[in-house]
Amino acid sequence: MGRKSSKAREKKQKRLEERAAMAAVCAKVEAANKLQDPLEAFPAFKTYDRNGLNLSIECKRVAGLDRATVDWAFELTKSNMQALYERSEWGWKEREKRQELTDERAWFLVARDAAARPVAFSHFRFDVEAGDEVLYCYEVQLESRVRRRGLGKFLLQILQLVANSTRMKKVMLTVFKHNAGAYHFFRQALQFDVDASSPGANGCCADGCSYEVLSRRTRFADGPPPPPAAAAAAAGPPCGACCR
Ligand SMILES: CC(C)(COP(=O)(O)OP(=O)(O)OC[C@H]1O[C@@H](n2cnc3c(N)ncnc32)[C@H](O)[C@@H]1OP(=O)(O)O)[C@@H](O)C(=O)NCCC(=O)NCCS
Repeated sequence: MGRKSSKAREKKQKRLEERAAMAAVCAKVEAANKLQDPLEAFPAFKTYDRNGLNLSIECKRVAGLDRATVDWAFELTKSNMQALYERSEWGWKEREKRQELTDERAWFLVARDAAARPVAFSHFRFDVEAGDEVLYCYEVQLESRVRRRGLGKFLLQILQLVANSTRMKKVMLTVFKHNAGAYHFFRQALQFDVDASSPGANGCCADGCSYEVLSRRTRFADGPPPPPAAAAAAAGPPCGACCR
């Protein structure tokens, strides 16, 4: 009897701790979402004056963007990505993509030229993934005329900076394996890891899935990075349904 009630007490205590931990995670995401301008403390990251580009960079929630900029972001995503989506198990779903871009949780980095014309953007969100507070990069899209001049790397550096300053645990994103340039950009140039939640990380659907989930830890990530084998074990047994 005594043993049983102490076990029950332990269980209840564990439940309370888990609930408190999740509340703390959600509070961090909420606090990040309440910011007016996550770049306010980092004025040096509000301009990009390198490699022949002279751009200003703003960070806003989607509600703070004008309609023309949102339409431009959608059209750029479509022209850069439609064919890549069509080669994947997801297909290109225009209405869903527009909804995703205009979801009230969406934040944007927008780079503009001297005439205030947008040339590149990133759509990101503060979110909870597998119990962790993360900055999830939904898109990073550059017009072709501004590529290979370090701007993409700079935008990802900003995301890492914002993730650190809001105490998120990692920056995450999804990339198509057949988007060779972007894949090389994230894995080789930016040193993103395959996330434990990626289909490829737990041995399931590694060949059948056309995408990988990548991540980069911030200084608020717990403990040292897990070795690939441990990450695979943590991700759980192979499943038959991880391709969306
Ligand atoms: C992928 C993308 C964001 C990269 O931005 P970028 O400004 O062109 O890249 P950077 O100049 O910062 O590149 C940094 C390094 O990444 C690597 N890299 C970038 N683009 C590459 C490509 N197409 N092929 C191979 N390596 C590439 C290179 O090592 C590069 O360094 P280098 O130019 O000195 O060789 C940009 O090309 C883009 O918007 N592509 C179309 C949309 C897209 O695919 N987005 C990603 C969706 S997941």
